[in-house]
Amino acid sequence: MSRTRTQVAIVGAGPAGLTLGHLLHLEGIDTVILENRSRDYVEARIRAGVLEQGTVDFLTEIGAGERLLSEGLVHHGIELQFDGERHRIPLSDLTGGRSIVIYGQTELVKDLILHRLETGRPLHFEVDDVSVHDLEGDQPTVRYRHEGRDEELVCDVIAGCDGFHGICRPSIPEGVLSEFSREYPFGWLGILAEVAPSSDELVYAHHDRGFALLSLRSPELSRLYIQCRPDEDLAEWTEDRIWDELHARLGLDGWALAEGPILETVVHGMRSYVCEPMRYGRLFLAGDAAHIVPPTGAKGLNLALHDVRVLAEALVDWSRSGSTAGLDAYSETCLRRVWRAEHFSWWMTHMLHRPEGADPFDVRLQLSQLRYVTTSDAAARSLAENYVGLEVV
Ligand code: FAD
Ligand code: PHB
Repeated sequence: MSRTRTQVAIVGAGPAGLTLGHLLHLEGIDTVILENRSRDYVEARIRAGVLEQGTVDFLTEIGAGERLLSEGLVHHGIELQFDGERHRIPLSDLTGGRSIVIYGQTELVKDLILHRLETGRPLHFEVDDVSVHDLEGDQPTVRYRHEGRDEELVCDVIAGCDGFHGICRPSIPEGVLSEFSREYPFGWLGILAEVAPSSDELVYAHHDRGFALLSLRSPELSRLYIQCRPDEDLAEWTEDRIWDELHARLGLDGWALAEGPILETVVHGMRSYVCEPMRYGRLFLAGDAAHIVPPTGAKGLNLALHDVRVLAEALVDWSRSGSTAGLDAYSETCLRRVWRAEHFSWWMTHMLHRPEGADPFDVRLQLSQLRYVTTSDAAARSLAENYVGLEVV
């Protein structure tokens, strides 16, 4: 087994791991990033689309926003559809000019990988059997196999940025973490279609047949979602059935959804999850490794980037001054924003989805809530400030 050393070992090359590597590089801190999938796989994994204003400003400040600024689509509002009508929430008017940017997670990940490769610092794809050790001591290690060789990486700190199904969180001894979770009785069937988006702004639709969302990736690519069962069998969904369902849920008098070739279809389950604290000894969890939100509030990627921003600042302070104050406060600082996003995502999910065999009482509450957020300035402002991202939590 060969042994190497670095300051921070980063497990996972998703948005959290890559951004942390970038931030620490800017401060001259050594990192090794380990990713168990291939570069092609990571760059093609379609997920988030909505970036908060604060996330865009942050990526721009750290020099990772060049393509985001030229290709990202700035949106100043979203539409909520219910009872056969659309109602605009003017995000920017309600938040002192703040907005969101539509930029695919795939594109952000490609940008961050290019930045990493330019630095010449290690980013290893397709590593196997990753395991973390000696978390309680001051020299934790990561073991893995790469290109047929067993490797051991000795470091000062491990950053667990390996997503919800990663190995870092499960490596924390039982009894240390408090876990909070909620499973939802539905999922999202998502498609990417080669057709110009039929609406200039995102449309979140409440419908008797279930929720639907019209989103986009570019002026030529639409991203659409249909509420389905969490274990929905994609084999039962022909292209015709998908479009029929989207027309039924999103259609309006005088407006039609344009169809195009479907490039990708996927089903996502929906879950809320938080573990506390987001740290064990020298292992720090960040992003989906520590918390998950249902996608209705478009918060997951934004939270992941906030975590690594806080973590990087704390690590830089520790390496310069020797103070562990930032690291000691890491979990608590992140969890404040995490729980705000957990609540917002849970609330949006409940307001918009139809549980199977929905109780008419619940449906009337949903419609009343939707009417309230689309008629009351105070209620609309509350939705808007959470959606574009709160500056202070
Ligand atoms: P991941 O992106 O999961 O990255 C973790 C990485 O670790 C992966 O590359 C994985 O392959 C790797 N890994 C796993 N195990 C190991 C191991 N053992 N060893 C090495 N590497 C490992 N968020 C938003 O903010 N806005 C949105 O609009 C939005 N829309 C979404 C829509 C959908 C349908 C879904 C599913 C999610 C959406 N999200 C959204 C959430 C967002 O995609 C995630 O929160 C985000 O990917 C989290 O980034 P991460 O880096 O923490 O985790
Ligand atoms: C997306 O474009 O993928 C998207 C948009 C809004 C959401 C979730 C996902 O709430």
